[in-house]
Order: sequence, then structure tokens, then C-alpha cells
Amino acid sequence: MKSARETTSKGKVDDATIVASGPSSNTPLLPGVNIAIIGAGFVGLVSAAGFAEFGHSVVCIEKDAKRLRLLLDGKTPFYEPELAELISRHIKSGKLTFSDNLTEAVRGQQAIFVAVGTPASKSGRTDLTALNAVAQTLAPVLTGEQIVIIKSTVPVGSAQKISAILKARLKKNSNGAKPPAVISNPEFLREGSAVYDFFHPERVVIGGSDSKAIEVVTHIHKLGMLHPAPFVVTTNETAEMIKYASNAYLATKIGFANELAGLCDSVKVNVMEVVRGMGMDSRIGPEFLNPGPGWGGSCLPKDLQEYIGMSDAPAQDMLIAEAVKNANLRQHTRIVDKAEAMLENLQGKTVGVLGLAFKAETSDMRNSPTIPIIADLLKRGAKVRAFDPIVKEKGDSLPQELEIVNTSDEVFAKADCLLLLTEWQEFQLIDWGGLGALMNNKNILDARNLLPPELLRRHGYKYVGVGQI
Ligand SMILES: NC(=O)c1ccc[n+]([C@@H]2O[C@H](COP(=O)([O-])OP(=O)(O)OC[C@H]3O[C@@H](n4cnc5c(N)ncnc54)[C@H](O)[C@@H]3O)[C@@H](O)[C@H]2O)c1
Repeated sequence: MKSARETTSKGKVDDATIVASGPSSNTPLLPGVNIAIIGAGFVGLVSAAGFAEFGHSVVCIEKDAKRLRLLLDGKTPFYEPELAELISRHIKSGKLTFSDNLTEAVRGQQAIFVAVGTPASKSGRTDLTALNAVAQTLAPVLTGEQIVIIKSTVPVGSAQKISAILKARLKKNSNGAKPPAVISNPEFLREGSAVYDFFHPERVVIGGSDSKAIEVVTHIHKLGMLHPAPFVVTTNETAEMIKYASNAYLATKIGFANELAGLCDSVKVNVMEVVRGMGMDSRIGPEFLNPGPGWGGSCLPKDLQEYIGMSDAPAQDMLIAEAVKNANLRQHTRIVDKAEAMLENLQGKTVGVLGLAFKAETSDMRNSPTIPIIADLLKRGAKVRAFDPIVKEKGDSLPQELEIVNTSDEVFAKADCLLLLTEWQEFQLIDWGGLGALMNNKNILDARNLLPPELLRRHGYKYVGVGQI
């Protein structure tokens, strides 16, 4: 089987050209670069393993002792397809190492990528504590020959602020020395296909003003690229905004599909046929048009919130983005309303939930729409039992009253309704005919429109999707 690096599936463009504004494609090939990546999360770890596969030497620095211990023991701290194999290959090849000593590990590395978390703060704006702490630690140890590359998603102006921190420290220590260049290199990978996306980027965005640094960062990405992508070389601020604008637009597109599904429900039109017809228009495109239980995950909610609040200008109302945020909250309620409508009343009823992760092929529960939906089901009096192929713990986010079971079969027992919330492909292979006999009532609410309605109806289920007739 082809690896995610080699495969050309998923309809991606393999022969995209380098944009005119991009770096020259006839730059002589430099050897592999010594790279440090700070933060072994979804972005840092995938990038570290991916750059090692390209032929660079990578040290990945992680401050969380538990996470680091797992990595040093050859284990991956979260589920992401093909990542474990890639990491293990490059631990063996010697191209990938791990450390918790930031100041030691960055010494002698030409490129220092920062991939620390930038979560939402209580105010909703981006919490840059981890990024600023890294800058403060790096400032006294870096030289002007090194390059700091910000992969984390950060508000417009952040790269300049990091640059100022690095410069200020340098001024104090050594008069007139050149500070490290700061490059913005936002990441667009999707959890669940992050390794595939690393090897098949649809574009690489590089923001900065130091042409030598831009050339090195371009080389780092191009060295092992089997599937050339366009490079967008621009300013730090534009690169930062491209990331926020992309995520705000993606949230808007899903939000539109969800609202459309509600309309289709009420006028009895099949939304899946509608979005298929819409997506054939190249101005619209088919992706991110699938209705569901609402978007979530570690990025869209916080990035949309920052996009809304980024400008201090009083006249800068973000009406569309605000509406997208509110419509998404409404979508969670709409799913529970649908379950309630199927059962007339949720009080004392048992709902079997299929899927907890915010999307298929990931273990990430950050801002999963399943969390508010399950909380609302419980609040309205239902008993909730759930199965997910990867998520086995309630953690801090899922309600304690929720029961998590080990097999999909167990959610059927005495259930009054099944609610499919995550689009794991394995749910299509469930023995729907046989297991229905275990239920109190054969109701299924398919919040991802994943299952075949006709087949389920033939097995005697009452099937309801989102926007499906
Ligand atoms: N997860 C995604 O799908 C995705 C996609 C694109 C962009 N992003 C952005 O990338 C950034 C990272 O996201 P993530 O999901 O990988 O985050 P994450 O929380 O999974 O990982 C961040 C890691 O950085 C570590 N860390 C923090 N400070 C450190 C320090 N001083 N030294 C060493 N390690 C440190 C943390 O312990 C953690 O393991 C965020 O800005 C996010 O918005 C994420």
C-alpha cells in the first residue's frame, strides 16, 4: 500500500505550479537543514516527522513530561493515521529526536519552528502565553544566523511582536548584532488526514521580509516534496491573516450547509442532492458543504472568535462571522430538538450515541460538538450511552453522567434512539439488520448523513438525517 506521502488520492492537485510571486524553482538544492520544532502537538509532531521524512534533521521539543515520556518510549500521544509509523521510522533513522531542554536543543539549529498551542483565552481572544514564553526563552540564546518560524495560528501583528522581543534582548546583550529573522508559516493540515496533508499541501504560505530566511524556509518545504504546491510568499501580517480568513470562511461554508439542511427539512428537499448540484460549480466547490451537527475542533471555534475580535476599530462589525458563530450554537440545539421530536419526549429515554470525536479519524475532543449535544440530551432527561472507536475516556469535557461503552453493539441495548454524531466509516459496517432487535424502538438520527436511509428503512428503522427526506 502506498504511504500518505506517495498517494495521490483525495482528489488533490499533484502538479500545481509555483506561483509567480513564489521563490525561484531553480534555486540550487541545499542539503537537509537542522531544524528544531517547539511543541509536539498535532502540528508540531506531524511537521517534525514530515520534515524528517524530507531528509532534514529534526529535534522536537516538548515541555509536557507525560507527552515527552510517551514519545521517548516510541509511542504517539494521540491518534492520527500513519503518524506512529512515520515517527518510529525516523526515530530509527536518527533524523528525529525529542528533548525537553529548549535552550540546549535550539543551539546550532538553523530553523526553529514554533508550534505551541494558541487557545482561546476567557475573553475569547487568543491566549499567546505559550508563544511569548518561548520568545522570552529563545531571545538570549539565538543568533542572527538562526530563523524563527511561527507555525502556530497567531493574530495579525504577532510575528512583529515576537521579533521585537528577540531584538530587545539582543540589544541589551550585544550591541548591533543582527537579530534572528521571524517568518510566518501558518499550517493548514486537517486532523484525521494530517500526515496526508503534510505531504500534499494545497499551498505553502511564507510571510516575512528577510529574503535569505524566506529562501531557507522554502527549501525546507521543497526538499522532499513529491507533490509540488504553490508557494505564497508575502508579508508576516498577510500570512497571519490568510490563516484566519481561511478558517473563518470554512466555518461559514459548513454553517451555510447546516442552515440549508434545516431549510431542506422544512420544504422536503434532499439537501445531499442540493449540495452535490451546488458543489459542481467551480466558484463554490464540493468540500465543506456537508451538513452535520455543527463544526468544532481545536481550530475553527477559537480562530473564528479571534477573527471577530481582531480589530479594535469600533466600526468594524463582523456581522457575517458573528452570525456563523451563533448559527453553529443553534445547530447543536437543532440536533437535540430533532431527537426529541422523534421520541416525543426525551425524559427517561435512552439515546445511544455513535461517535464522540469532533470528526472521524482523530482522538481530539477539543470543542467537539458532541459535548454540548450530549449535555443537552442529559439536561432534557435522556440517559446517554456512547461509543467511539478511539475516544474511550470522558476527560474533562464530557458530562460524568454519560456512559461510554466498548463496542458499537452495546449502544443498541434498550436504546430508544441511536444518534450518529461522528462520521467514522466503520459505522457503515454495523450489522444494522441484526442489532436493531436489541433496541426498545428502532429510531436512528443520522447527524452526519452517513448511512443509507433506504437500507435502514428496509430493516424497519425510522430514519431521520439532516435535510434528508
Ligand atoms: N490541530 C490542528 O488541526 C491545527 C491545524 C492548523 C493549525 N493549528 C495551530 O497550530 C498550533 C498548535 O496546535 P496543536 O493542535 O498542535 O496544539 P497542541 O496543544 O496539540 O500542541 C501544542 C504542544 O506544545 C507544547 N508546548 C507548549 N509550550 C511549550 C514550550 N515552551 N516548549 C515545548 N513545548 C511546548 C504543549 O505541551 C503541547 O504538547 C495552534 O496555534 C493551532 O491553532 C492547529
